[in-house]
Amino acid sequence: MPHSTMGDVRDLRIVVVGAGMGGLGTALAFAKRGFRDISVYENASNLGFVGAGIQMPPNVMRVLHRLGVSAEIEAEATDVKGTSIRKGSTNEELAHVEMPDIREKYGFPHLTGHRSNLAGSLYNGCKKEPAIKFHFATALVKVTSFSPKPTLVFKPRDGPEFQVEADILLASDGIKSVTRTQMLAELGTVSEEEDTGQAAYRIMLTREEMAHDPEMLALLDSDTVVRWVGEKRHIIAYPVSNHNIYNLSSAQPDTHFAAATNATYTTKASKSDMLSVYHDFCPLVHRMLNLVPDGEVCEWKLRIHKPLPTWVHGSVALVGDACHPTLPHLSQGAAMAIEDGAVLAEVVSKIPADKLNDPETITKTLKVYELLRKPHCSALVDLATHSGRVLHLGEGKAKEERDRLFKENGKSGSVPDKWASPDVQKMIYSNDCVKEANEQFERLFATL
Ligand SMILES: Cc1cc2nc3c(=O)[nH]c(=O)nc-3n(C[C@H](O)[C@H](O)[C@H](O)COP(=O)(O)OP(=O)(O)OC[C@H]3O[C@@H](n4cnc5c(N)ncnc54)[C@H](O)[C@@H]3O)c2cc1C
Ligand SMILES: *[C@@H]1O[C@H](CO)[C@@H](O)[C@H](O)[C@H]1NC(C)=O
Ligand SMILES: *[C@@H]1O[C@H](CO)[C@@H](O)[C@H](O)[C@H]1NC(C)=O
Ligand SMILES: *[C@@H]1O[C@H](CO)[C@@H](O)[C@H](O)[C@H]1NC(C)=O
Repeated sequence: MPHSTMGDVRDLRIVVVGAGMGGLGTALAFAKRGFRDISVYENASNLGFVGAGIQMPPNVMRVLHRLGVSAEIEAEATDVKGTSIRKGSTNEELAHVEMPDIREKYGFPHLTGHRSNLAGSLYNGCKKEPAIKFHFATALVKVTSFSPKPTLVFKPRDGPEFQVEADILLASDGIKSVTRTQMLAELGTVSEEEDTGQAAYRIMLTREEMAHDPEMLALLDSDTVVRWVGEKRHIIAYPVSNHNIYNLSSAQPDTHFAAATNATYTTKASKSDMLSVYHDFCPLVHRMLNLVPDGEVCEWKLRIHKPLPTWVHGSVALVGDACHPTLPHLSQGAAMAIEDGAVLAEVVSKIPADKLNDPETITKTLKVYELLRKPHCSALVDLATHSGRVLHLGEGKAKEERDRLFKENGKSGSVPDKWASPDVQKMIYSNDCVKEANEQFERLFATL
């Protein structure tokens, strides 16, 4: 073989579109694997994160530990010690599931934190890597070629369009992914949205705002995630930022977005609407919702897609919400996106030096990533949908059975709120995606 066709896999030009959790995790995972040419393009002008909390389960802490950013995250986060599932209308506890030994069982804790804590730590990790170049305020307009070399057209906020050629394109451009739409169009198919019928309010209350109310303070000072459930609706809440902020997020029937199925994702909502949606919830919930200043209520449409026909085309792979958007009820969306990036870095590293210019090898390698991740992520997306359905049951036999199961407090190994269910936790939290990638790569590659 002539020397000129040999190269080093770490010199492949990796282009990442989108600097959300998926994009940041992907860029950092490639840098840690020794890749030397990683460009990240992000439409936003900076990583100004919407104020929001996020759960960081042990499976993602395992990946973040390998990426060298877990200490910074742990310093600020809350270590979850249990969960309390309550009847929204009365505050009566349906189940209390202790989770004292998550760290012992899975090697890593289950944390809740501020979204900016997770993203900021990933970003700080990236900034220490000279291999990673960020291009903010730059939007992907279109992908002009998927294979053999992906070519992309970008539009900077204040400048003319320009073209970029990559060896591999990793598209973590979120649920509205331009790359996904184009990839599927080129393959003669589309991504079908599945209407969840659900929307969410997100609220953050400060210690100052809660200080006058002992019942609220007790929630803020606890290490417990609380879920108040009612028919078709629930509210989940937990402390973040060293117990200085109480984070609430809800799920309720979507009445405001149904008409605009694809354009609008968030909207300023009315406080009186919010209060009326939860009118029959208990006084404690009411007092908290009432603390939100008028005009600061935000509502999100919760969106998911049917499983895509494929995540890979040519030398292009989709990552995170671009390929498996999920309902939040299992708290695994960001975790899955970060795991995707770690698995991609692992499999791409295995491309042999004499195959770096072989489009078929690159496509097959990316397909191994899809084979590793798609069944797992699809199962989690389904489980989140299922859990939402069970949490939102109205009066009847099914709900009675659910509440009977709740009363076992997880002792039987299963809880109807799948997020808190020991059997589901075991399946998700013990998953070591990087180890699995290394163990399964050759076998899966050979099947293609
Ligand atoms: C209400 C709610 C609560 C949630 N709670 C949790 C939780 O507790 N735990 C959890 O793990 N997950 C949670 N999630 C899910 C989680 O937020 C997402 O799954 C995760 O952020 C997906 O990351 P991503 O990088 O794939 O996409 P995104 O975070 O959406 O990032 C996509 C990025 O790409 C950029 N972009 C898009 N298009 C272009 C373009 N054309 N050119 C350049 N850049 C572009 C965007 O600006 C954005 O920065 C929640 C989601 C919702 C809606
Ligand atoms: C990019 O950001 C601009 C300005 O915030 C916004 O109007 C536009 O919709 C964004 N484009 C994409 C693809 O996200
Ligand atoms: C609060 O918690 C939910 C559920 O885990 C999370 O997804 C959301 O981003 C948080 N919202 C706010 C305002 O903190
Ligand atoms: C969005 O929905 C409208 C109708 O509701 C439809 O005409 C339009 O084509 C859709 N756009 C995309 C990008 O799917």
